[in-house]
Amino acid sequence: MLAEAVAERLGVGVCQSILERFPDSELHAEIDESVRGCDVYLVQPTGPPVDDHLMELIFLADACRRAGAARITGVVPYFGYARQDRRARGREAVGGRIAADLLRTAGIDRVLAVDLHTVSLEGFFGIPLEHVSAVPLLANAIEPLVTDQTVIVSPDLGGVKLAERYGELLRRPIAIAHKVRMNGKEVKVRNIVGDVAERTPMIVDDMISTAGTIAAAAKALLEAGCVREITVAATHALLVGPAMSRLEALPIKRIFATDSLPPPRHGALPIQTVSLAPMLAEAISRLNVDQSMADLLAHR
Ligand code: R5P
Repeated sequence: MLAEAVAERLGVGVCQSILERFPDSELHAEIDESVRGCDVYLVQPTGPPVDDHLMELIFLADACRRAGAARITGVVPYFGYARQDRRARGREAVGGRIAADLLRTAGIDRVLAVDLHTVSLEGFFGIPLEHVSAVPLLANAIEPLVTDQTVIVSPDLGGVKLAERYGELLRRPIAIAHKVRMNGKEVKVRNIVGDVAERTPMIVDDMISTAGTIAAAAKALLEAGCVREITVAATHALLVGPAMSRLEALPIKRIFATDSLPPPRHGALPIQTVSLAPMLAEAISRLNVDQSMADLLAHR
């Protein structure tokens, strides 16, 4: 478990909590030891089932606040609802804003988050947000595989900055897939911008959810004549719905992802997990003594 790995690195224990459901499905949260006067770090990714995990986080925060915690930091390695950052069609809720508001309302004083869907989400938080990035960790893990033929691929226009960051760290050129969304579940790639023929692609993204985006990009890359050996890197591996079957049907050699979410049942997928524990432990130890976070932040 990520919280335990972080605590072990910091040389502290994990405070025990009780989370249970009443017969009518209401959540009950309780802290099992004193946190009075403590600097509390609540580690909870709000991945699927998103609402359950979000409720657990805010209930635990409320329990800590009422129990006299001096300061509460929500360590949210994956922040659910981040993709709901604006109204796309009108008459819609902006889920990212609601989730951010809930954290503050529950008594969380600041948030430590990893590779949010967009850096502009910071504006949603009425409390300090420390937004760190796992890209250097993932790039480091990928580096031994990089050759002169490697091209970094963004699977959509929104991911160009992320691809550029990988490109800088790995010193390789980038290509961009022009993705269009057909409906809520289907996407299609119109064309690839950049030189990918006979090159080995590394598709990079902030998350893999249903893998529709990665699959569409991979198919377009294969049609454009790339080498049939694709690597994927994403900070958050949700792998929901048809993700497994979509990825298994493609010549994907390896998938690098972090442990921002509990490991999915990924069958035969060649997933290599890069742990966030060292980075989160480093971030927490700096936050605890008010040291600069500059080199860990996502918007550098
Ligand atoms: C989109 O803008 C994101 O960066 C991801 O590409 C997308 O959310 C992944 O979702 P899926 O795996 O369901 O296509």
